Amino acid sequence: MKNFISVNDVTNIDALVQKALAYKADPFKDKTLGTNKRIGCLFLNPSMRTRLSTQIAAQNLGMDAIVFNVGSEGWALEFEEEAIMSGSTVEHVKDAAPIMGKYFDVLAIRTFPSLKNREDDYSELFIKQFVKYAGIPVVSLESATLHPLQSLTDIITIEEENQKSKIKSQKLKIVLTWAPHVKALPQCVANSFSQWINAWGRRLTPALSTGGEGEEGGINFVITHPEDYELSEQFTKGATITHDQDEALKGADFVYVKNWSTYTDYGKIYCNDPEWMLTNEKLQLTNNAKVMHCLPVRRNVELSDEILDGPNSLVTQEASNRVWAAQAVLSEILKAKS
Ligand code: CP
Repeated sequence: MKNFISVNDVTNIDALVQKALAYKADPFKDKTLGTNKRIGCLFLNPSMRTRLSTQIAAQNLGMDAIVFNVGSEGWALEFEEEAIMSGSTVEHVKDAAPIMGKYFDVLAIRTFPSLKNREDDYSELFIKQFVKYAGIPVVSLESATLHPLQSLTDIITIEEENQKSKIKSQKLKIVLTWAPHVKALPQCVANSFSQWINAWGRRLTPALSTGGEGEEGGINFVITHPEDYELSEQFTKGATITHDQDEALKGADFVYVKNWSTYTDYGKIYCNDPEWMLTNEKLQLTNNAKVMHCLPVRRNVELSDEILDGPNSLVTQEASNRVWAAQAVLSEILKAKS
């Protein structure tokens, strides 16, 4: 693996998931793999889980991890080619990134979208410029449109639960449901979850890929949201999409809860109906579904206390699995470099 920007950088999702679970069972089994190697973790935006889990993962592999809060402590970076830098930006990424490429062996970056201009955000200019100019492997810690380490973690968690409950042979129903929120949030987590679940379904034979209830085996992936919250087809294609949340929840094995702002009329909040918040009553419609969320979560807005504090919530397990996802990815990158 050269870079880790999206699921397209992964040749075998199952193998990566198993590698992560092997690290969970034995965190220090490759404790010298990263000896004398250094990862730079650049944060243009806030983080708790991604920051800490990536550092722990790197340290488990024997790497040094240096965190730099570029967004709040560094020079304001310019990303546009041929920019006339007479505004607020101080340093061009084509000057900064090659230096980081000399300081570090791997560069990991978190950026968020502006939610002002869809074309700009979906061009993924920030992360692409780091890939172009750093000259070392780049790992996304969440970009303008995707959050691949989160999605890998989500699949690890689903797989782990499957292994526990031994429902592997059945067709899994996985539902991604929109939830209300007070702020306009990025589409990254929902895009990325959709992209990974679709790819995970497709890694089976075509007959077992994501699709409707009628098919045997594989994954029945359903996305539900109010009208106007359609995500980009480039990520959702393969899923069943419905505006009827109750219908979507029927028989679900896993329910992934997340808010996102509008994609078409970009970055807006339209409907914010509190009825879309998942409750125990709604959970009755499911196959005693496990409930997932990437966190942070607005309690009793996006997801109810009764779910988060109840037996079906996987959120802490999911967040703790972030370490093993990051460790598996860094391990693949280190092995490819050596
Ligand atoms: N889920 C997630 O990425 O959390 P942080 O924003 O805290 O890193």
